[in-house]
Amino acid sequence: MIQNFRHTPMNLSLIGFMGSGKSTIASRLADNLGFDFVDTDALIEKTALKSINEIFNDEGEGVFRKLESQVLEDLVGREGLVIATGGGIVTNKRNIQSLRELGIVFWLDADVDSILERVSRNNERPLLQTKDPRKTIVNLLSQRSALYNQCCDERIPTDDLSVEEISFGIAESARLWFSKMS
Ligand code: S3P
Repeated sequence: MIQNFRHTPMNLSLIGFMGSGKSTIASRLADNLGFDFVDTDALIEKTALKSINEIFNDEGEGVFRKLESQVLEDLVGREGLVIATGGGIVTNKRNIQSLRELGIVFWLDADVDSILERVSRNNERPLLQTKDPRKTIVNLLSQRSALYNQCCDERIPTDDLSVEEISFGIAESARLWFSKMS
């Protein structure tokens, strides 16, 4: 059960499906707000000394998910971060709790076509190395959309917006959230 009461430190997390632009936008936001940029996937790779693909191939998704929860939990207690997360982070309730403890959460919502277009640019996503990536995206989205919605403070529809527009909108909104808290 997610707590209603929140002590909200000054961090901002981006959640959303693979290819929704979390890392690109988080990095810009960090520059804009003068915060530090962290990416849970990059932290996992640093901890495991392997790429995400290698972790999935050698050790399986279960090990990846444990590392994901661990690196996220290790961030709790820090301030001044913009955190880009992996698309599956919300599938673990403990992670939702950690994200909410960390601060404000924005959901970058994107439709199937924009996701497919973005993820087709490389083969870095082990979960999408399937015969029918569109079908996989539709299935995963149907399992996850409610979780993104449950976890976030604000949903940002991204399909018709540029990276600059999205970053600007979130930065303005985050300033408002932070001013209400202080
Ligand atoms: C995953 C998303 C990936 C990465 C891993 C699993 C997922 O991150 O964490 O491949 O389950 O959706 P991105 O959302 O940054 O692609």
